[in-house]
Amino acid sequence: MAQSTRTVIPKGFRSAELGWPELHRIPHPPHRLPVVGDVLGVNVRTPVQDSLRIGRRLGPVFRRKAFGKEIVFVGGADLAAELADESRFAKHVGLGVANLRPVAGDGLFTAYNHEPNWQLGHDVLAPGFSREAMAGYHPMMLAVTERLIDHWDREQTAGRAVDVPGDMTKLTLETIARTGFGHDFGSFERARPHPFVTAMVGTLTYAQRRNVVPEPLAPLLLRTATRRNAADLAYLNRTVDALVRARRTTSGEGDLLDRMLDTARPGTGERLAPENIRRQVITFLVAGHETTSGALSFALHYLSRHPDVAARARAEVDRVWGGTARPGYDQVAKLRYVRRVLDESLRLWPTAPAFAREARRDTVLGGVHPMREGAWALVLTAMLHRDPGVWGADAERFDPDRFDAQAVRSRAAHTFKPFGTGARACIGRQFALHEATLVLGLLLRRYELRAEPGYRLRVAERLTLMPEGLRLRLDRRVPAVEDVPVANPEVSSGPRCPVTGAGE
Ligand code: HEM
Repeated sequence: MAQSTRTVIPKGFRSAELGWPELHRIPHPPHRLPVVGDVLGVNVRTPVQDSLRIGRRLGPVFRRKAFGKEIVFVGGADLAAELADESRFAKHVGLGVANLRPVAGDGLFTAYNHEPNWQLGHDVLAPGFSREAMAGYHPMMLAVTERLIDHWDREQTAGRAVDVPGDMTKLTLETIARTGFGHDFGSFERARPHPFVTAMVGTLTYAQRRNVVPEPLAPLLLRTATRRNAADLAYLNRTVDALVRARRTTSGEGDLLDRMLDTARPGTGERLAPENIRRQVITFLVAGHETTSGALSFALHYLSRHPDVAARARAEVDRVWGGTARPGYDQVAKLRYVRRVLDESLRLWPTAPAFAREARRDTVLGGVHPMREGAWALVLTAMLHRDPGVWGADAERFDPDRFDAQAVRSRAAHTFKPFGTGARACIGRQFALHEATLVLGLLLRRYELRAEPGYRLRVAERLTLMPEGLRLRLDRRVPAVEDVPVANPEVSSGPRCPVTGAGE
């Protein structure tokens, strides 16, 4: 164990040399250049995939430096399991997550561990993800999926391929907006994204760029982008404030917003402050859709490439759901094989591709690498999920059977971490899994999926991962069951105003 140095690491970005006294033991890529660092052969648009490639050469722990910022990456299962030990490590709010603070403040995802609003927000909102609450969201999830199916039917009839990431993003955004805030963006009925969506994507893209543009150059290189970002932020805040104001005069259906406004913390009676509610609404709209959309898109890609897997999954849906046009809440978790397809897709492409952990006290990682209190490392989830020591020599191969019950039981803990770890792990995990399993089940039942000839998987990075340019051709199946009803009049009546819900 290293001697406790009690060096205070300054706030803001903490470069690795401040917290890792024996950093020289950790390998970095060859050809490090003065000032700029490890930039040869890398692409600012694909930092995660570059890191995966570098990690393959350098091993379970390595470091990368760019413009004076040095980061330690961990991709080996043994070291990642240590970082998951909550008695020694906690979530680190740094890098990409810290860049989202101007948007999401002390909302659940971006709150510092010590901020009182994290525990308060967690206590108030966790019941919003209970089994009972989820069963209440289920009919809304079904209604939104029927809207997607309505759209896909039309594309299929017109002989057009469908835009998978685009449509999955519409679906997951509508689902979280509806279940969380009783709101309808009208995404499927619009030719162009709703301005709220454009502003949200704008702030995420800006946060991603702040990660890769060196601090001293940011005012110069990002001048226009910074101005646009300020306008995007103001628009997001205005829209959310109006939504909250409108809700104060009516009541919702027991959704997340109702909980934010009405629930007092048991025992203390504390409530979320208006500014914090604004942050939480934005947090849930952002955190609740991009990652699930990516997970669904990767799963659909793999299903289109593995007809044997698709046939097995489809047979399960037909068997379990039988003639039920609208599967009930309890019928979703019974799709065990569909769920394995989803897990295996999240293994290869965890759509939240990394999470950061910091030392609670001075400690030594792997018995070799001393870390000071506050020093941190980035767990590269996709690398952990491909560690051949855990997943075998064929770790890169898509195989849902890696998640059959016996295989899962025989694996060590902390080897599959798409939802992060510990107290700060994803609060929306069950929500995402329920939604994605339901959607895959409904789509498999209705369509055969055909990959476009010549498409090779390219992965786009914008804080989350997404298959780029993925389009699929659909064939309608001869319905084995009563047709899934579509065009639910309640949900397909055209775009609505974000605030009042009135038709536009
Ligand atoms: C496949 C879909 C999803 C994936 C892969 C995912 C992944 C993650 C990960 C890795 C974290 C931890 C981040 C960290 O340690 O810094 C996280 C946290 C979080 N996620 Fe998710 N997420 C998904 C869906 C959702 C959904 C649907 C919601 C909301 C409905 C949501 C809301 C949140 C929130 C609020 C946090 C912060 C929790 C806290 O710190 O207390 N996520 N998610």
